[in-house]
Amino acid sequence: MKSFNRLEGKVAIVTGAATGIGRAIAIAFANEGAKVVATTNRNIEGLKETQSMASAGSIHIIQADSAVARDVDGIIKYAESEFGKLDIICNNAGIVTDALLADISEEDWDRTIDINLKGAFLGSKYAIPAMQRNGSGVIINIGSVNSFVGEDLHAAYCASKGGVLMLTRCAALEYAKDNIRANVICPGWIDTPMNTEYIENLGGLDAVEKMLKSVQPLGTGKPEQIASVAVFLACEESSLITGTSILVDGGLTAQ
Ligand SMILES: NC(=O)c1ccc[n+]([C@@H]2O[C@H](COP(=O)([O-])OP(=O)(O)OC[C@H]3O[C@@H](n4cnc5c(N)ncnc54)[C@H](O)[C@@H]3O)[C@@H](O)[C@H]2O)c1
Repeated sequence: MKSFNRLEGKVAIVTGAATGIGRAIAIAFANEGAKVVATTNRNIEGLKETQSMASAGSIHIIQADSAVARDVDGIIKYAESEFGKLDIICNNAGIVTDALLADISEEDWDRTIDINLKGAFLGSKYAIPAMQRNGSGVIINIGSVNSFVGEDLHAAYCASKGGVLMLTRCAALEYAKDNIRANVICPGWIDTPMNTEYIENLGGLDAVEKMLKSVQPLGTGKPEQIASVAVFLACEESSLITGTSILVDGGLTAQ
């Protein structure tokens, strides 16, 4: 992706940046000139790789669980104390659970909702006062096509992503007065570690591509195709966009 310094001077947080979409967003923000605080709960090696992949800006890494309030509060405090402000947060950390609704354990349900939905809530809750101090801010949540459409074996995931959509709309309405924008990106099928097991179970990427063409006409997406939309939402080019969802799904929900 070409960079145009569109985030020069900005301070951004990206959660769940050790792999996949979060990694691509952290790198894209840095390449656009931002100082990026990138987090993961466990995969520190992955986060260090992300850090080494930026060609401009800077990426600073922190171990923090997006589902734990004191960790999330700590990331915002770190950004403000190190860099003096917070401009952007991308609440990206997420997990998926596969099971029929009646077979989902209470533990799996709680973990999915805690990371995917409560994580976006906590990220917003602690970022908003920092953005108010800053005089403006941008919240970008990562939803899913499952913010809009259900899917077999994904009840917990779909419930969490539907919640992220509504959380985003409420944040946009409540904090427009503070010059804070909130939007949600809703990806379709993207080739990331989250899907590795499915791809193997379905017979490899070629087999998945054939199967996907019938549901996602443009085929498998790449994390960078989500990151470019995140950059757009983070920068001035989208200054009148708030409370909206952008489906980046290769046509999946068009049919
Ligand atoms: N890959 C897809 O097809 C797809 C489609 C729609 C939405 N999404 C969403 O995109 C986001 C990123 O997913 P991905 O596909 O890149 O998957 P991924 O598994 O590659 O990345 C998930 C990231 O979240 C981190 N993470 C997990 N639990 C965490 C926690 N408790 N605290 C902090 N970090 C945590 C992981 O370390 C990892 O860096 C998720 O919210 C996911 O639901 C993905």
